[in-house]
Amino acid sequence: MTPTSAAERSSRPFVGRIQELADLVSALEDAASGRGSLVLLTGEPGIGKTRLMSEVAQVAGQRGVPVVTGRCWEEGGAPPYWPWMQVLRSLGGDLERLAAFGDSRAGRRGATSGVVPEGERIRLFDAVGRFLAAASSERPLLVTLDDVHAADEPSLLLLRFLGDAVAEANVLLVASYREAERRVLELGDVFAELVRVGRRIPLRGLTSADIEAYVAAVTGSRPTRQLVARLHKITEGNPFFVEEIVRLLAAEDTLESLDQTTTDPFLRIPAEVRALIRRRVANLAREAVAVLRVAAVIGREFDLYLLQRTSRLTPARFVDVLGDAVALGVIAELPATPRRYSFAHELVRETLYDDLPPARRLKLHREVGRLLESLYGEDLHPHLSEIARHLYLAAPLGDADQALEYLVRAGDRAAALFAYEEAAVHYRRALELLPLVGAHPMSGAASSCCASGTRSGALGTAPGRVRPSRRRSRAAAGSATASCSRGPRWAM
Ligand SMILES: Nc1ncnc2c1ncn2[C@@H]1O[C@H](COP(=O)(O)OP(=O)(O)OP(=O)(O)O)[C@@H](O)[C@H]1O
Ligand SMILES: [Mg+2]
Repeated sequence: MTPTSAAERSSRPFVGRIQELADLVSALEDAASGRGSLVLLTGEPGIGKTRLMSEVAQVAGQRGVPVVTGRCWEEGGAPPYWPWMQVLRSLGGDLERLAAFGDSRAGRRGATSGVVPEGERIRLFDAVGRFLAAASSERPLLVTLDDVHAADEPSLLLLRFLGDAVAEANVLLVASYREAERRVLELGDVFAELVRVGRRIPLRGLTSADIEAYVAAVTGSRPTRQLVARLHKITEGNPFFVEEIVRLLAAEDTLESLDQTTTDPFLRIPAEVRALIRRRVANLAREAVAVLRVAAVIGREFDLYLLQRTSRLTPARFVDVLGDAVALGVIAELPATPRRYSFAHELVRETLYDDLPPARRLKLHREVGRLLESLYGEDLHPHLSEIARHLYLAAPLGDADQALEYLVRAGDRAAALFAYEEAAVHYRRALELLPLVGAHPMSGAASSCCASGTRSGALGTAPGRVRPSRRRSRAAAGSATASCSRGPRWAM
């Protein structure tokens, strides 16, 4: 390798993506002229969707365009419309208030009687569209939604609606998703509609020239052609893998070893990327790894206070431990949200989660669920889905009653927000748990769904939604029992 100047060195360089960034900037300029649109960034995990979004957000910021962001909660359990709630909140709005307005006019028919208030939902969507148009009337607006493969279905339907609605507003919507995710395949119709109303920019691997620029920027030395070729071959240009390998080997001062033809067993990517992550995490103290594993149960993003409540470390030690994990790039503090942290990558969280013994995982889900319940006892509403998810996953430990109660409450809340598909997910899980509990008082929507053995009514509005027969409901319940009798291997 040959040395480069200090100015070229950077610990977090951005390379390549020239065409993609140019396309996004041009869409931003169109939005500024009243021709808003929806752009979809797609690609495999680690390919650079979030990073490209943050680069375009930076350009927007430099041009005085406000940027609002909605993140999806990858582990499930977020309230319905979660990404949109964040977006509206950042603009001083409140999606629940918009929904409550529609709900009062509908006389709460949808959530209680099984009548389908699809018209009310469209009114809510329209109100959100008008709110965004008003918010961008003086200055254009960039709205970024990351990881929408993990969004609840109502949020995706709202995105699809707005993809059309912003055509005459000063709003650019940019959403990202992993197209190979199982959920994207399951909701094929919804994603196909998004692509139809928006413009898709598929992200592929970085080129050899990009990788060369990346290594030079990180190490301060220009890499040899063999090294670049090897890195390109191993990583197929996935920036996350490139970054992991370069950072690790540069820290160990063994990057040059990639020049040689010997095969490092750690570098069969992507199967071995977890080994790389484990090697990186192994540099932390044992208690730090233990804290991070609990964080991995909470989710890709986690609240500092919640995590601290699960730990026996002294506050000073806890802060040190977290600081070490940040310094090593395993987690990062989220800029606009104090006390919230995020794993550097979903694969980092997954690796730590998978390393937990299954029984411990269940206990942690139960502990986190109960902690959330006691922390937010005053206003549980925004946390119902999250608590329901943790308790559902912990149900094999024997607290199915409580899990069922939260699933029904989360389902009712989703139905009241016209988030029918989301409500169906909670009720379906509740049905799974039914055989494990005694008599349980259910809400109007849930009990009518369960009693009739269907989840139609308020929940059956979107085309092609699941309307399982009584037999299928029993099969779902049976499979829950089977899962329990097999022991703690509950599906996420
Ligand atoms: N063009 C690039 N130049 C340099 N680094 C990059 C580039 N693109 C991505 N990276 C880095 O690679 C890592 C993975 O990128 P990113 O998180 O954006 O991937 P992603 O596609 O959003 O993954 P996921 O689907 O898991 O969310 C990040 O640390 C990011 O900073
Ligand atoms: Mg991402």
